[in-house]
Amino acid sequence: MMANGETRLFDRLEPQKPDALLSLIGLCRADPRSDKIDVGVGVYRDAAGGTPILRSVKAAERILLETQETKAYLGPEGDARFVELVRAIVFGDDLAKDERIVGVQTPGGCGALRLGAELVRATGANARIFVGQPTWPNHAPLIGCAGVPMVDYTYYDPQARTVRFDEMMSALEDASAGDIVLLHGCCHNPTGADLSLDQWDTLSRFIADRGLIPFIDLAYQGLGNGLEADAAGTRMTVERAEQALVAQSCDKNFGLYRERTGSLFVKAAGAGAAEIVYGNLLSLARTMWSMPPDHGAAVVRTILDDADLRADWHAELKEMLARIRGLRARLAAADPRLAYIDDQNGMFSILPLTKDQVAALRDEAGIYMAGSGRFNVAGLSDENVDRFAALVAAQLPEA
Ligand SMILES: Cc1ncc(COP(=O)(O)O)c(C=O)c1O
Repeated sequence: MMANGETRLFDRLEPQKPDALLSLIGLCRADPRSDKIDVGVGVYRDAAGGTPILRSVKAAERILLETQETKAYLGPEGDARFVELVRAIVFGDDLAKDERIVGVQTPGGCGALRLGAELVRATGANARIFVGQPTWPNHAPLIGCAGVPMVDYTYYDPQARTVRFDEMMSALEDASAGDIVLLHGCCHNPTGADLSLDQWDTLSRFIADRGLIPFIDLAYQGLGNGLEADAAGTRMTVERAEQALVAQSCDKNFGLYRERTGSLFVKAAGAGAAEIVYGNLLSLARTMWSMPPDHGAAVVRTILDDADLRADWHAELKEMLARIRGLRARLAAADPRLAYIDDQNGMFSILPLTKDQVAALRDEAGIYMAGSGRFNVAGLSDENVDRFAALVAAQLPEA
């Protein structure tokens, strides 16, 4: 019998600290300054500072509104045609034909990461997941929650602002066959520092030779250097590895964020093993979300299945990419100490600022970014990018 008082189950819970980023969003909303700058939250903004729904998405939604005939349940695999279409974008036409690769729709990239970690746990193996530092702060809770032990490897050099590739490779020397290596496919979050194609080549050979299992998080395909270039490292690594996982998201490159649209692909050692993996993915999905939400996947399917909408989405994606690259170039040109920003990819970069400097920028200038100095490049507008660069540069140490 529990002692009196302890029978109140929820009194036993530990209070949770609010997510730092959510607190930041709240602070920014409450800030009355009209020239405040929100580079904390990770959504793409257009030149006017808005996050509008893509034209291609709106058009697909109109089609769905007119033509969708039922809301009857799908299965735990989600929208199979969506998965087939996304599979070709992630892997390219050739690798997509590999029958050792199976895929299911998931609630966003987060769902894919969690499902992948659950699949590893379900094998009952003593596998560990090697996780680069720094990484997206949600990786640890999403993956750790499945109970798979995590081992850190050094990824980024905050002084040189590049990947510490040699250190990364020597840390991976400790991994044994069957261990998993978490990698960002492109547009590394939070650093923006990606592996070069030569580094992917070295790493993917190492992974294959050692029997390691890459777990690639591909959340920003198309927003670094283009759809094909951004998938090159992933494709090379999955092709060479005997087994692999890819957590994919359409939430950024289709601007679908809240629709929770993604997929998990798993490569097994043979077609028979892949079928068993697929069955396990379905039963694990059942225990977590039963089936993924439909709308975002139906939108992506409608776009990709229609030549005109697909072409329009390509054009919109290129526009987003060009804007991000343009902002990076402008920041780099504003001050030599920011030059490194143009060598990086995707929405994020880290500024070499102390927590106090980040707080000073917030209090004195209304600039909102994570305490680590991570900021969303795509959160800047044409109007405020130069002011942002000047205010940040004023805080930086002399070169
Ligand atoms: C590195 C990384 N992986 C995965 C995700 C998850 O994306 P989604 O919103 O599709 O769950 C994000 C989202 O910010 C991310 O930055």
